[in-house]
Amino acid sequence: MKPVVVSECAELHKIVHSLHLQDLRVGLVPTMGALHDGHLSLVRESLKQSDFTIVSIFVNPTQFAPGEDFDKYPRTLQSDLELLETVNEKENIFVFAPTAGEMYPKNFDTFVEVGGPSKPLEGTFRPTHFRGVATVVLKLFNMTQADVAFFGQKDFQQVQVIRQFVRDLNVPIKIKMCPIRREEDGLAMSSRNRYLSPDARQRALCLSRSLRHAETLIQAGCRDRAVIEAEIRAILEHPQHKIDYIAIVNPDTLLPEEAENGNTGNVGNAENGNALNASISPTFTLPVAILLAVRVDDTRLIDNIVVGE
Ligand code: PAJ
Repeated sequence: MKPVVVSECAELHKIVHSLHLQDLRVGLVPTMGALHDGHLSLVRESLKQSDFTIVSIFVNPTQFAPGEDFDKYPRTLQSDLELLETVNEKENIFVFAPTAGEMYPKNFDTFVEVGGPSKPLEGTFRPTHFRGVATVVLKLFNMTQADVAFFGQKDFQQVQVIRQFVRDLNVPIKIKMCPIRREEDGLAMSSRNRYLSPDARQRALCLSRSLRHAETLIQAGCRDRAVIEAEIRAILEHPQHKIDYIAIVNPDTLLPEEAENGNTGNVGNAENGNALNASISPTFTLPVAILLAVRVDDTRLIDNIVVGE
């Protein structure tokens, strides 16, 4: 069965209220649609851990800056519903697909500004992005009244930003992070992969390849930030690629560790978004997160790995 589609918050509240009266647990999987197996892996996890699952589909204008891909972002509701049908055996999936007017009514003027984890990396390159994400995600939490929400490690920084505001604002919801789903050749699944030409799609493999290489080096004992960064850079570099950042950071703070006792490393540069400066330690400890953002031709791709957890 195709899942039931709800577009109004009031109707969704009624449904969830009656589920909660029956003591049923409600999971939420927020998405912008153009669903792929990465999204489905979150839905499967929610189906395992909750009685009913709400998949929200909303291409959120406030998280796109002018000049980004909001207009060309794929909107594929019918095929999204067909994909969800394949996992809706128990008929316990709802799709919440609000209109822009439902989400941002006239005179809407309140935003969630997260500090800490929203500032580096994506925050440097897309300064208004997480304000839009945090605002819409908090609204989705309130609109769905879900008990637990599932997010992908694919957007590792996004998960840390969401965890921060959930903690800071006492939002009564549990946050679960699910692993990155990859194509067989290693490319992290993404709705934006469909922008890639066959040639760019092939070159895009450099992200996952460089992360696997870094993991091998770390597992062999390397803790030298400059060595790991240089090895990754060598794999990513191509005349048609623009590296926004290669970040080797503490997974909780998303910042590089600081040097102790003036033992400084002169590595990286502040321009590449790593926020590296003279007080960065030349070595790192585990666990470590390595995050990449690379523009392959015109398509901006992100990927990451956490080692040593
Ligand atoms: P979207 O990019 O559609 O992603 C929805 C969810 O799917 C996110 O939690 C994302 O991390 C997860 N996801 C994407 N690709 C994945 C993959 N290859 N493996 C596992 N999970 C994957 O992220 C957003 O939408 C928006 O910012 C949103 C949270 C919906 C707010 O608008």
